[in-house]
Amino acid sequence: MEFITTVQQMQRYAEQQRCQGRRIAVVPTMGYLHEGHLSLIRLARQHAEVVITTLFVNPTQFAPGEDYERYPRDLERDRRLCAEAGSDALFAPSVEEMYPGGYTTRVSVLGITRKFEGQFRPGHFDGVATIVTKLFLATKPHVAVFGQKDWQQTLVVRQLIRDLNFDIELVVAPTVREPDGLAMSSRNVYLSAQERQQATVLYRALRAAAERAAAGERRRRELVAAMESVLREVPVLVLDYAAAADAYTLEEPELFAPGQEVVLLIAARLGQTRLIDNERVRIPEE
Ligand code: PAF
Repeated sequence: MEFITTVQQMQRYAEQQRCQGRRIAVVPTMGYLHEGHLSLIRLARQHAEVVITTLFVNPTQFAPGEDYERYPRDLERDRRLCAEAGSDALFAPSVEEMYPGGYTTRVSVLGITRKFEGQFRPGHFDGVATIVTKLFLATKPHVAVFGQKDWQQTLVVRQLIRDLNFDIELVVAPTVREPDGLAMSSRNVYLSAQERQQATVLYRALRAAAERAAAGERRRRELVAAMESVLREVPVLVLDYAAAADAYTLEEPELFAPGQEVVLLIAARLGQTRLIDNERVRIPEE
């Protein structure tokens, strides 16, 4: 596996692959890889001849006071896992490489970023849109693979691709879960043993609402109430939001339409750890 740390080397490598007629897939990550990331790399392989994984803990998507400094990092382990999963190249630039002195540009996606994560993490999606744009320009992919776990992020990237005319196909990969339902996340390492057990309540809450929706419940407030009632089983959980929204516009009508695709979203804090998760469900046709 190629190990690349500069934008110039990355662009040269990508250009060589393109000149040889090879399709490139990129898997953007912030490292501390787990099975969820590895599943993205394997899926990327099904869409392209060349898989480039990027590893960059992007400071601009963390608000002041968030976990940028303590975000888990282990480059050597990531390098090994990435190669084992079949990535052809790992692009792991430094902060100075991505944001050199004098850097002043920011990419902002409006609309879809206004609620949920955008509301609770001001500036987060500007940081994401900016770095994803830079990673696309560095890796020149035909396909980009993102995980459903960050559902709102996938909508932001979809909008970015459309608005900036990137000639890139977006592939959204299913969330990989622990056997007890907890969505895999690099941040799960922050959880104490007790919090790790309590954290399963997010998935149980999502499932409760998803089952109501699948059984024909179309009232948004009822779906949210179904999640909240399960989440109350863990009183120490601090809820940022539990919401049901149109899966693509994130609008929140009082009543969903038959056949409408709905996303159930939860963000909550357990001690020092902020967790997010979601489920998509289609309201049955009448
Ligand atoms: O989902 C992530 O890990 C990050 O937000 C991303 C897309 C790699 C941008 O830093």
